[in-house]
Amino acid sequence: QEALKKQPLVNIGTSGHVDHGKTTLIEALTGVWASRHSEELKRGITLKIGYADTAIYKCPKCPPPQAYYTSATMPKDGKCKYCGSPLEFVRKVSFIDVPGHEMLMSIMLAGAALMDGALLVVDATKECPQPQTREHFTALSIIGVRNLVIVQNKVDVVSKERALESYNEIKKFIAGTWAENAPIVPVSALHKANIDALVWAIEEYIPTPRRDFSKPPRMFVIRSFDVNKPGTNAKDLVGGVLGGTIVQGRFEVGHEIEIRPGIKIKKDGQEVYEPVYTTITSLKTGDQPLEKAYPGGLVAVGTTLDPSVTKADNLIGNVVGYPGTLPPTLYDLEIEVNLLERVVGLDKPMKVEPVRAGEILMVNVGTALSIGAVTSVRDNVAHMKLKIPVVAETGTRVAISRQLAGKWRLIGYGFVK
Ligand code: GTP
Ligand code: MG
Ligand code: MG
Repeated sequence: QEALKKQPLVNIGTSGHVDHGKTTLIEALTGVWASRHSEELKRGITLKIGYADTAIYKCPKCPPPQAYYTSATMPKDGKCKYCGSPLEFVRKVSFIDVPGHEMLMSIMLAGAALMDGALLVVDATKECPQPQTREHFTALSIIGVRNLVIVQNKVDVVSKERALESYNEIKKFIAGTWAENAPIVPVSALHKANIDALVWAIEEYIPTPRRDFSKPPRMFVIRSFDVNKPGTNAKDLVGGVLGGTIVQGRFEVGHEIEIRPGIKIKKDGQEVYEPVYTTITSLKTGDQPLEKAYPGGLVAVGTTLDPSVTKADNLIGNVVGYPGTLPPTLYDLEIEVNLLERVVGLDKPMKVEPVRAGEILMVNVGTALSIGAVTSVRDNVAHMKLKIPVVAETGTRVAISRQLAGKWRLIGYGFVK
């Protein structure tokens, strides 16, 4: 039980059009600016998946919404700012922040594969829906995220009339969809206003999923690093580190793991991927060392691998498990395709044309991304030859994108046959 207090057990993602305030909102909730890469800071847009954890606290005496706090919003003395009661710990949560830029849809899809619930951030100053409001919402629909809180942001800079109009646009957008009854919480992420109401909505609408710890453990890799400072002595080198989210079961320090599809090698003049085997030397969530790691949050797995194997996100998209328990590595993908009616991620939605033999499509499978040529299509079953193999079993969900006007746009989904 103590372990369950150290590690966040639910992943809440962001979604929404570029610049609508996703990263600012995560900062208001957690105190952490999740877009830390130098290029992101320079350009002011999110480029990679960001993670930030916090804990939710509740005043036992006050009514909602003011009863709700996070580690970042609660007073330093740990007491309710309205009544002075000591706040009670509710749960640790992890936020996954994704980019909203139209060029970065594949990264959003990788992040969405790890979400147990999501916040759809809508800028109240802009007409709703914007193209990536639609496309991210469709991605959540496709991937099967069903716990949603809609955040109407930037209400500090709109009139009462515009706030109401924006609310009605959002209502119309979700009418008749699975998200029809999702709450819409007006906030100012910038001024940290009404964040208590948002935390309340998260508590009500994004529950911690029940996990089956008896399943064989599996982790989707979303980062991988060489954590050694340049010039470190050979004898002081630390092994390669994998960052990812455990989607089922639990990992323990000391166990052997398999990483698939692994690394690219040349075999008889052909490039193939070979699984990598190593041992878990450490587990961490945030700065917290763990003996056992469970689903939820970003878990860093220390290994005995040569750090050159894991450096610079080399192993992104890999799947980790105990040896012999992972699905097969597929170079040929047979998918049952379901196309969207419209390409929703463009300024002007347009009809989705059928899949044709010979065309190049992009597929997202878990956190893995690959591109391949369609070799044949029959009824709604397409065969593809992939550039980079994916690790998937029958029935695994695949997001399918096509290049339109030079950019990858979501056009449908499928299931591995
Ligand atoms: P991408 O990750 O690039 O898609 O952007 P984002 O959705 O993470 O938006 P970000 O948090 O970077 O904010 C974009 C701009 O909107 C920044 O200039 C923020 O300061 C501003 N902003 C965010 N929230 C608010 C708000 O509540 N009110 C006002 N007035 N501005 C806001
Ligand atoms: Mg951002
Ligand atoms: Mg921005």
